[in-house]
Amino acid sequence: MQYTNIISTTVNGVNTILINRPKKLNALNSDTINELQIAMSRANEDKDIKIVILSGSGEKAFVAGADISEFADFDVEEGKYLAADGQHKLFDFIETLSIPVNGFALGGGLELAMACHFRIASDNAKMGLPEVSLGVIPGYGGTQRLPQLVGKGRAMEMIMTANMITANEAREYGLVNYVTTQEDLLSFTTKIALRIITNSSVAITAAIKAINANFMDGINGFNIEINEFGNCFGTNDFKEGTQAFLQKRKAKFPGN
Ligand code: COA
Repeated sequence: MQYTNIISTTVNGVNTILINRPKKLNALNSDTINELQIAMSRANEDKDIKIVILSGSGEKAFVAGADISEFADFDVEEGKYLAADGQHKLFDFIETLSIPVNGFALGGGLELAMACHFRIASDNAKMGLPEVSLGVIPGYGGTQRLPQLVGKGRAMEMIMTANMITANEAREYGLVNYVTTQEDLLSFTTKIALRIITNSSVAITAAIKAINANFMDGINGFNIEINEFGNCFGTNDFKEGTQAFLQKRKAKFPGN
């Protein structure tokens, strides 16, 4: 498929998806959300892709939020549909990604970043959930994921004030793991991606499932961990990992 709003490239198992609407600060319109969903589904199904890095093109922004011009005249039902559709289609779907945040990540941009497994920001990044300044609240999971990452008090303050925080504040809050210069952002992120993909992809998938279970209502994460831990013993990755350790060599995981 030919994309118009994103650019997807894969090198050495690392799939980089660049949101490419720099003139609109990469704001998420519905076409971009659809293309991201398709690109992520493909990455998920492609055995040669081990990790996805999501970034934004241009000097200024990762993503400046949902595209305000698309929903400014929506009514209540359309507003509900917009949030539900986006959440189900994309935000809840993102399961295997790491992410650099480059420039502004506001509203839906920060929500997209927060749906990923961890975030790396360039030192010019500013992050916030400014929705209450538009008369609306975050609708792509922001009220749920922000408190998980920064704690309830800080999330309340960020959402109520609609203020932006700097990359260094975001690191202090636990919202991003690292801050790099703009020039180093992708190379630093790729280095971490390449480190991750030396490990067992089957075990990493199991770990993501178990960690995410910690945040699901009505699910006992310890039981999920026991189950996923046990399942690992039936995989070729486990056989290879343990044999390699005993034979004092580096493991070459088959990924199954
Ligand atoms: N939706 C639609 N268009 C957006 C957008 C958004 N979320 N964010 C930026 N744009 C567009 C602007 O309308 C402008 O388009 P134009 O050149 O055709 O007029 C272009 O991107 C550049 O933005 P501009 O506001 O001129 O840049 P700036 O550097 O002065 O300000 C921001 C940058 C990010 C502070 C500002 O654009 C902003 O506040 N954006 C909205 C953020 C937001 O509220 N997001 C949550 C939405 S739910």
